[in-house]
Amino acid sequence: MSIEQNALDPQLWPLSARREPGGSISIAGIPVADLAAQYGTPLFVIDEADVRSRAKSYQAAFRNSEVPTEVFYAGKAFIATKVVQWLTEEGLNIDVCTLGELEVALRAGVDPSRILFHGNNKSVVELERAVEVGVGRIVVDSFIEIERLANIASAHGVTVQVLIRLTVGVEAHTHEFISTAHEDQKFGLSIASGAALEAAQLVIESDSLSLLGLHSHIGSQIFDANGFEVAAERVIATAVAIRKKFDFTVTELNLGGGMGISYVAGDDPIQVEKMARALYEIVISQCQRVQFPVPRILVEPGRAIIGPAGITVYEVGTVKSVDVSDSQSRRYISVDGGMSDNIRTALYDAQYTVALASRTSEAQLIESRVVGKHCESGDIVIRDAQLSADIAPGDLLAVAATGAYCRSMASNYNHIVRPAVVAVCNGKSEIVLRRETIADVLALDPGAN
Ligand code: LLP
Repeated sequence: MSIEQNALDPQLWPLSARREPGGSISIAGIPVADLAAQYGTPLFVIDEADVRSRAKSYQAAFRNSEVPTEVFYAGKAFIATKVVQWLTEEGLNIDVCTLGELEVALRAGVDPSRILFHGNNKSVVELERAVEVGVGRIVVDSFIEIERLANIASAHGVTVQVLIRLTVGVEAHTHEFISTAHEDQKFGLSIASGAALEAAQLVIESDSLSLLGLHSHIGSQIFDANGFEVAAERVIATAVAIRKKFDFTVTELNLGGGMGISYVAGDDPIQVEKMARALYEIVISQCQRVQFPVPRILVEPGRAIIGPAGITVYEVGTVKSVDVSDSQSRRYISVDGGMSDNIRTALYDAQYTVALASRTSEAQLIESRVVGKHCESGDIVIRDAQLSADIAPGDLLAVAATGAYCRSMASNYNHIVRPAVVAVCNGKSEIVLRRETIADVLALDPGAN
């Protein structure tokens, strides 16, 4: 057996991923072939110990004797009551951005004061529910929302704690960030145009809102701290301007999420300890420079907590070889899911790592494309993969690092049912989200019932 061909790079696969003596990949000691037999495919498998260990690393890294800090898990990456329970047990708070995500957090038993509510267009119903249950922080994103929220809080006779989402003119993706005057986007209140200060005035003057702090989120899949540095500088400058103009000192600085993970060999995101140290240094030095009291720091990682802990298991259905030129052919391997359970390849040209999961192989590696079963040629899971030439119907493939933004962005395109999510830990598995059934999908269609 070629070691390299069947090896699992620990940077890319969940902590407990192994090759069993029989050749199957196992997670937490359970062969994925057994999980596939029990729960069906496609199947999302989450390594609970991996999620908890990432949460612990964030908690440990963002603990600072001088600066109070809170870590919020961004539920948009993937949310289910079980996961929320693990994470709150590990000390994280929860960031939600819709009524649905809020209800999951509440049903998971999260103390509402540990919930933060985001969104550029929260509805009256959403804001009312958040106020009624006593959500700890609401991040406001427009003048209309400030007025809406103030009215709702006042009708409930409560004071709601608010952060203002700023448009900071920084965009970061992977190792690149650009500092721009770019204002043409839907999120936040612009620092440059003065909208941020106007919003601060509205919140400060409201009897039913209390201004806790300022928020900035600069992007996703970020590999270093440079973009955060420029954003923090601008947010702190805004805090100083608010103090000067309104004699009011904000006490919280939320730097958002976006910390990157490894999807393929060569991806090299900064370690959380280094990221945390860099962020503390940036904030403390900026505050000293402008003589501003160092605020409480909030961060909102989503992908970095859940992404690397999850894999998707697919069964191969058909295999065909296609000539791409006179001298070249490509093998298309079709699996039983696709863009309905992972839209990221089609949407962002995302790259993933795939492995033959039900057995090992010593066959030659050949240029392959892993595709789904949807009626669309862009339905690609992995555009370019080197996979064993002997892969055949019935084999299982596993795709690494699909814990974030795959199930949460899943659809029923072509009336495909969305896959189950199972958690594995110490040789045991449990359902986190059950697989949908055709009956679930048909239930929405009155003519079908
Ligand atoms: N906080 C705010 C305000 C956000 O908008 C986001 C993500 C996060 C935190 C968490 O970011 P993370 O640490 O997970 O990168 N669907 C895309 C990602 C969209 C992220 C949207 N906002 C993807 O699949 O890559």
